[in-house]
Amino acid sequence: MTNKLKYFVANWKMYGHLGSLNSLGKVINFKKKNKNAKNLKIIYCPPFTLLHAFVQKFKNSNIKTGAQNCSFISSFGPPTGSINASMIKSLKCEYVILGHSEKRAKGENDKTINKKIQSALKNNLKIIFCIGETMIQKRKKVTKKILLNQLYKGLHRIKKKQNILIAYEPVWSIGSGLVPRSEDLNILISFLKTYLRNKLKFKNPKVLYGGSVSPQNILVLRKILNLDGFLVGGSSQNSKKFIDIIKKTFN
Ligand code: PGA
Repeated sequence: MTNKLKYFVANWKMYGHLGSLNSLGKVINFKKKNKNAKNLKIIYCPPFTLLHAFVQKFKNSNIKTGAQNCSFISSFGPPTGSINASMIKSLKCEYVILGHSEKRAKGENDKTINKKIQSALKNNLKIIFCIGETMIQKRKKVTKKILLNQLYKGLHRIKKKQNILIAYEPVWSIGSGLVPRSEDLNILISFLKTYLRNKLKFKNPKVLYGGSVSPQNILVLRKILNLDGFLVGGSSQNSKKFIDIIKKTFN
């Protein structure tokens, strides 16, 4: 039976040294040996310092690698401390996470995110584009408006839609242990897909959920309608937990 939940993105955030690669053998074996895992897209997004090592480690495994951010500037030059999309691509990375709320909270706005998406696509990276509302916005019942606004502005004038995955990550859910109610998620994911299809002209939109995904709540989250996968932060830093999450989505 094929799993409709196809994408499992591991966002390692600011976690990991070279020694942390030792634990990845378990995931490589799982991907290779478990027949249900063969067709899954497993994507690891470690910090920049580990990108090259991850690409090497996953070389023959069909597990993909992505960065957690990139500059909106496509060429070489200043600013100090930044990394652009072509540098990421040159490592044979395939993905980049953009628009994460932890970057938005530090001042990244929709316009900058839009420029980053353009630069990443120009360099043939695939995008994991994060959107999500804060708790205050949720309480004010403006979640849908916020999400549409982030999508509309972030994807302004973007043509290559097939290389963009949307990750719905409520800000209040990230790292908090809280997840939205299933009935709310069912409505929101379908709502986002309809908007992506009808208004933003996505042919086959893919939407992931992220925020406190764990081996415990995955049994509920796996039932969300129309979902294509998960963006996992904290729980992905432990290979056993990450594999457990994936396995529990199998029928
Ligand atoms: P979390 O993080 O799973 O630790 O909540 C998700 C994310 O920030 O992508």
